Amino acid sequence: MDANQYIKTLERTGRLSEPAIRNAIKALGLPEGSKVLDVPCGAGNHMQWLLEAYPKIHVTGVDIAKNHIEYAKNKLLGAGKISSCDFLPGDMNKLDFADNTFDLIWCCDGLWPGPKEMGCPAEEPYHILNDMVRITKKGGIIAILFWSSQKLLPGYPFLEASLNATKSAIVPFNSETKPELHIMCTSNWMQKSGLKNIWAKTFAADIQAPLSKQEKEGLKMLFDMFWARAEQEVSRKVWKEYKKITNPDSKEYILNNEGYTGLLTYTMFIGEVSK
Ligand SMILES: C[S@@+](CC[C@H](N)C(=O)[O-])C[C@H]1O[C@@H](n2cnc3c(N)ncnc32)[C@H](O)[C@@H]1O
Repeated sequence: MDANQYIKTLERTGRLSEPAIRNAIKALGLPEGSKVLDVPCGAGNHMQWLLEAYPKIHVTGVDIAKNHIEYAKNKLLGAGKISSCDFLPGDMNKLDFADNTFDLIWCCDGLWPGPKEMGCPAEEPYHILNDMVRITKKGGIIAILFWSSQKLLPGYPFLEASLNATKSAIVPFNSETKPELHIMCTSNWMQKSGLKNIWAKTFAADIQAPLSKQEKEGLKMLFDMFWARAEQEVSRKVWKEYKKITNPDSKEYILNNEGYTGLLTYTMFIGEVSK
């Protein structure tokens, strides 16, 4: 996917998850003056929502993609509204900050263990999490969030279940991946890194008709992201039905359903740094 298309995907799909992420941010209850690191910051959406929820904090955004950093910087600083933030290109594998710098590290959809070619930072999360602990103050918080589920094909539960049981829907996890590297084992990763008071909470975002053009674009991107490569793993009947209901030119295009209702969830894992 080219760089501009990736940013467009982050923006469109980011809007769909916005209610879930904003509620997760609210649940943090951040004190004034907190120093926050958002890594990877992508298109800067979460930096913006963090600063809108807590105007008296400072947020640093780090991402390996220079064009994401430039885009996020222009978006947040360009409007002249939000100034208590800064941006740095950087790799999560080498967080270039002094020990005990941050009160909160916010890491959403950034720590998926898997191959770099798939956009993952590393095959395992431990060295990154240990480094996050190093740069967080004693008593500070590490929040790791992952997209954890979705229901996007109302009326087609068998079809959706078949599609979700394919490799393309479960990447970067595969049949060789150790169970401990599944994202729902993040609490175990946190225990290994010495974090205390670990808890997890799942936040949902509802998606309901009437859908805007942008919401339809975001949902179509999600269909393609999860299932466009699933053809070899499902029956021909399932594939035919999937193509029919996800083709915008079809009479049965699911996003034209006037009662369309879908949902997606993010699970937030929280751990406290005790040094
Ligand atoms: C799925 S996006 C998530 C962005 C943002 N946290 C969000 O939820 O909207 C993943 C981001 O990770 C960045 N990324 C991939 N590998 C990275 C690495 N090793 N270090 C820092 N950023 C990385 C990509 O450039 C991309 O912006």
